[in-house]
Amino acid sequence: MKQLTFRNGDKLDILGLGTWKSKPGEVYDAIRSAIKIGYRHFDCAFIYMNEKEIGHAFADAFAAGDVKREDVWITSKLWNNSHKKEDVLPAMKKTLSDLQLDYLDLYLVHWPHVFKKDFMGATKAEETWSTAEVPHIETWREMEAAVDAGLAKHIGVCNFNKHKLKALSEQASIIPEMNQVELHPMLHQNDLLEFCKENGVHVTAYSPLGSPDRSAGMKASDEPNLFEHPVIKELARKHNCTEAQIMIAWAMQRGTAVIPKSVNPERQLQNFLSTEINLSEDDMQLMASADTGYRYVKGQFWAFEGTEYSVDWLWNR
Ligand SMILES: NC(=O)c1ccc[n+]([C@@H]2O[C@H](COP(=O)([O-])OP(=O)(O)OC[C@H]3O[C@@H](n4cnc5c(N)ncnc54)[C@H](OP(=O)(O)O)[C@@H]3O)[C@@H](O)[C@H]2O)c1
Repeated sequence: MKQLTFRNGDKLDILGLGTWKSKPGEVYDAIRSAIKIGYRHFDCAFIYMNEKEIGHAFADAFAAGDVKREDVWITSKLWNNSHKKEDVLPAMKKTLSDLQLDYLDLYLVHWPHVFKKDFMGATKAEETWSTAEVPHIETWREMEAAVDAGLAKHIGVCNFNKHKLKALSEQASIIPEMNQVELHPMLHQNDLLEFCKENGVHVTAYSPLGSPDRSAGMKASDEPNLFEHPVIKELARKHNCTEAQIMIAWAMQRGTAVIPKSVNPERQLQNFLSTEINLSEDDMQLMASADTGYRYVKGQFWAFEGTEYSVDWLWNR
């Protein structure tokens, strides 16, 4: 398995398991089976509401000797309502307690939006703070404190465009080590990838299969299905593999970590075996033709009137 190397030499398996929408009642088995298949990189978040069950699965896997704590990489994320300086470390400690861990390998700021403490899912301007009131650097100083305290080995962000990443990096003592963003064959984000590469920030591709299991309310009515995309189908035929394997192999070939979610052991194995597929230069060029800049996770849900949090602010400013 290809790995990404961090500034202190720590290594991360480039393929991991996503856990958003992995329901309580199914995520325990999903974690245990993924570990047995060979996954060593797991992507979690407080807001996925399943960290307790994931914690049980890890505790049992460690106790059964399936894997050692130091041989797995566990990422989690700080939710939007815990950006104020007094809220960051308590939020992180809650995640650590739910996951039954002493430390996280990577802790990420989930979104650049800031919600007031009582509003996990803000619905209007009054339920948010502006970034003038709670600047990203205020949150980041606490993320840095988590590293100093040994609670996180590495820290980073999600859904940060290059302007926000640059602004934060200029003030940071620890430059973000990871930016986790949506990437798949219809959304290449070459410019952001280039920026991250130049600045030593690793990138993780989320929703690499187009996130087909999101609820209907989160989906656009004309949403494209990546599994039906002619370029992806053509490459799957050529390599005698599945469409999912092409999408995952493509992400790895670009040097990004990739975290497809599956609770199904057969699909977990299928996805894991993508590491054996090598796409040629011609294949990569053909894939370039699929990039239309299409986002599945659009960020319009927090574009409240009377706030700075427009979709344009999120992705472009
Ligand atoms: N930082 C962020 O803001 C952010 C946002 C979105 C996602 N993420 C992370 O990225 C992870 C992945 O993204 P995602 O969950 O949005 O979507 P995804 O990984 O693109 O797609 C997951 C869906 O694909 C199905 N699937 C998995 N493997 C398959 C295969 N080989 N063939 C056919 N279908 C397959 C899964 O079904 P089964 O489970 O039934 O197999 C599930 O319905 C998340 O789980 C989360 O950890 C982070």
